[in-house]
Amino acid sequence: MHTYVSVPAPGASPPVLGAWIEAYRFVYDSAGTIDDGVRKYGADGRTFKISTPARWIVVSTNLGVLKELKDANESVLSIQAAADERNSIKYILSSSIHRDPYHVKIISKYLTLRLETILPEIVEEVCLIFRETLTVGDEWIQIKDYENLLSRCVSATTNKILVGLPLCRDREYLDCLVQLSKRLSRAGLFCDFVPPILKSLIANSLVRRSRVLQTFLSKLGPVFEQRRMTLASRSGKWEEKPNDVIQGIIKAAPPNTSLYNLCIRILYLDFSAIHTTTISITHALHNLATHTEFQDPIRDEIECVLRNSGGWTKQALKDMRKLDSSLKESQRLHPVTTATLMRKALKPCILSDGTHIPKGQWVVTPAYSINRSAQYHSNPENFDAFRFSRLAELDVRRTRQGIAFPNSGYLSFGIGKYACPGRFFAAAELKVLVAYIICNYDFKMSNNKRPRNKFFSFLYSPDFSAKLLFKKRFSDSD
Ligand code: HEM
Repeated sequence: MHTYVSVPAPGASPPVLGAWIEAYRFVYDSAGTIDDGVRKYGADGRTFKISTPARWIVVSTNLGVLKELKDANESVLSIQAAADERNSIKYILSSSIHRDPYHVKIISKYLTLRLETILPEIVEEVCLIFRETLTVGDEWIQIKDYENLLSRCVSATTNKILVGLPLCRDREYLDCLVQLSKRLSRAGLFCDFVPPILKSLIANSLVRRSRVLQTFLSKLGPVFEQRRMTLASRSGKWEEKPNDVIQGIIKAAPPNTSLYNLCIRILYLDFSAIHTTTISITHALHNLATHTEFQDPIRDEIECVLRNSGGWTKQALKDMRKLDSSLKESQRLHPVTTATLMRKALKPCILSDGTHIPKGQWVVTPAYSINRSAQYHSNPENFDAFRFSRLAELDVRRTRQGIAFPNSGYLSFGIGKYACPGRFFAAAELKVLVAYIICNYDFKMSNNKRPRNKFFSFLYSPDFSAKLLFKKRFSDSD
């Protein structure tokens, strides 16, 4: 393992061996590895590097560098190249995804801009899944396998918007996507640590040749096929053609794109959405189940807003400031990934702090450490659910304090023109899910303690085996 970037490397001594020890530590404690560097060099805004099994990574807390990364030119410091390499997407799915990331515009057009219209559909799916799956009475009961319940909810709501009925209610299809999202994440993590020849082997055995991928393709393929046939039979002039994501993909994809490549664009969107949102909602539930004192004020606010607005509207979502604040606080303390703004240099360049970056080098910002920095937040290690709703009271542009609005001290969704395009949709899903749970149940951790979280490479995930107890708030006769 070697590097050409001349910046300090905390923990990488003795030479060579130290770097390997740090790389091993990074796999199970990326936050700790990065935090050591931030504590040593962050106060002066000095850039440093960390050792990981796959590569040296340059980490910067410098505000000038942050600004450069957020406005970076894709042909110099590329988000797509970093995302492709990090998840080995070209081996696992296809090189077409990051070569032509048209899905980003599709998210803005069909999810973000249509939020008002699709919100009732999200609510409907959440209610349906909970009613079908969860039986909870007036006594405290442990919720078994809530990872599965939550990921199915996220998968159903996401697919209601991505592929619509009837597929979004097809249990086998939804379960396929939950499984595939996990497999993609796992395959990506493992592939990152091995040489190219082994990447193909892992990609084939975990994903490409898996039965679950074949089932997914066999269910979604005919939907695209049917659409393309209808479009062709009307010579492209189909007056009432559906205005949905399937149509958006057919339109945006290059002509003659294979059925496989159309389907995996949906799969890639599901992969981006399901795992991240399920992890985020679980962190939020663990936080609110440990700090139960926040549940009543959030509940009161939701009930009051829904009464006044007559139901779920975009404005109602905005007005649920305490709910928004508690979710943002959870995202701040528990981002899905310990570093964001990951960029790979496609050309050599010099950062504004003078760091020379060679071609191929990765540069990231330490989101976990910055989110927890006293430079930006008072008592940064505390879960203070209403931290941001208090700030919103003082801010004339209140929405800036919302969960989907990044700033230099809150980088969980990245920041700038390449910030997560799905964050508005994700925020809506998180709000609907937590609102449903909090209005219908009391919940707490069985031992009243917040469960420990787990790191694997950059991934920061909750302990899904932690015991979460639920009790119904009203009996059926209420
Ligand atoms: C709470 C849930 C989510 C979290 C925490 C999250 C987080 C992130 C982060 C950190 C990035 C990288 C930005 C950067 O570092 O510069 C990102 C990018 C992205 N996210 Fe999200 N995300 C979430 C939900 C979603 C959803 C629901 C979708 C799609 C519907 C989505 C689609 C994407 C896409 C397409 C990218 C661009 C990178 C790429 O093309 O691979 N995300 N997200």
